[in-house]
Amino acid sequence: MIDLQPVKGTRDFFPDEMRMRNWLFQVWRSVSEQAGFEEYDTCVLEHEELYIRKAGDEISKQLYSFEDKGGRRLSLRPEMTPSLARLVLQRTKSLLFPIKWFSMPQCFRYERMTKGRRREHFQWNADIIGQPDMVAEAEILMLLISACESMGLSAKDIRVFINDRRILNAILSQLNVTEKLHSAILVIMDKRDKVSPETLGTMLKDVGMTSSQVQHLNEYLTKTNLQELKEELQHTEGIDELQHLLQLMDTAGYSDYLQFDISIVRGLSYYTGAVFEINSPEKQHRAICGGGRYDSLLSTYGGKSVPAVGFGFGDVVVLDVLRELERFPELTRTLDYTIIPFDNEQVGIALKIANELRSKGAIVDCNFSMKKMKKSLHEANESGAKFAILLFPEELKQEKVVIRDMQLREQNPINITDLISSAGQAA
Ligand code: HAM
Repeated sequence: MIDLQPVKGTRDFFPDEMRMRNWLFQVWRSVSEQAGFEEYDTCVLEHEELYIRKAGDEISKQLYSFEDKGGRRLSLRPEMTPSLARLVLQRTKSLLFPIKWFSMPQCFRYERMTKGRRREHFQWNADIIGQPDMVAEAEILMLLISACESMGLSAKDIRVFINDRRILNAILSQLNVTEKLHSAILVIMDKRDKVSPETLGTMLKDVGMTSSQVQHLNEYLTKTNLQELKEELQHTEGIDELQHLLQLMDTAGYSDYLQFDISIVRGLSYYTGAVFEINSPEKQHRAICGGGRYDSLLSTYGGKSVPAVGFGFGDVVVLDVLRELERFPELTRTLDYTIIPFDNEQVGIALKIANELRSKGAIVDCNFSMKKMKKSLHEANESGAKFAILLFPEELKQEKVVIRDMQLREQNPINITDLISSAGQAA
């Protein structure tokens, strides 16, 4: 017998799970479109070199990569942003910036599996490219919050924790840490929730920080007041901009959702400005989503610098959160009619009626099992059909069928033509 389980860390979607996934995709798609974002997609297979970064990003070590028969180094995409950069670089001359694009890619990362981390996940991405100021961040954050609200989550359930990498860079410079170490240090700092403070300290010292620099950095990370930081780190880029963003969000009516948090770093080395994540207010989960500004990514691929900001919002954590909060929507199969022939004689007419009802927009299934009528009706009930259409020879002779309202448990004969013409209303 072959192994019936999916490849470790990947997922099978049975119909009930697929309904949930489709519901989530539908929320993502509709809020994106309402906010003026256009959908794009790329192939799940990419050039491996897109993901190789010097700063030691964890993602570069988690690739499902291989050599194809033509000797090309390829990888399943672990994230969408490099593919988006590739697309934009192909058409930098013709695109009308700023562009607002979204996608819902399937991504693969060879992760150590823990709660909320799988080796395959779907990740809603929305990015604004070509808008240099914080108004892009404001739009992106509003989109995120409106998606959460559409899922039934409010400011009581979630918080957007926000920081700016330029503030962290300024702190490191203040502590006399050389600039070339900054990226690697930020990538390590992002592991703070995964490893003990001692291990984190050792990792920071291993890349070149002194004990006293680590200690002072930890002191900075306890600060919660942006204004106080502004006074301490004078002339630091990022603070005014972040205050401006918080103000914009306040005016837009979203201040309850936002919280400055100096410890937010995010693990990808390409972020250059604002960085943010969504979590429960007590940060009980892995980040529901994460993102930030990445103004230099396109230039690292050889193009010119184009300002960009966006996020990735996975399906795994948010579904866990909704399950825990008991906010899972009740999703059942949608079925308007099940047609049940009495015996093989009525199969042809069953198919004909099904076809006509479907052409009116109804969702129609046929039960050709030829079981006893009682059993077939029980199955129709289990399937969630609104009506059963029973094909008895006697009624058919008069161009009639019997229609049964599954909820009211009432049944009546009806002319086939009347059934078809009323189908548009029932569907
Ligand atoms: P990321 O922080 O690596 O960012 O991932 C974003 C989100 O994807 C996470 O917050 C989580 O919801 C989900 N996610 C990531 N890895 C896994 C996993 N192994 N299992 C389940 N869910 C996962 C990025 O990928 C950036 N490219 C996002 C971005 C777009 N930044 C700017 N634009």
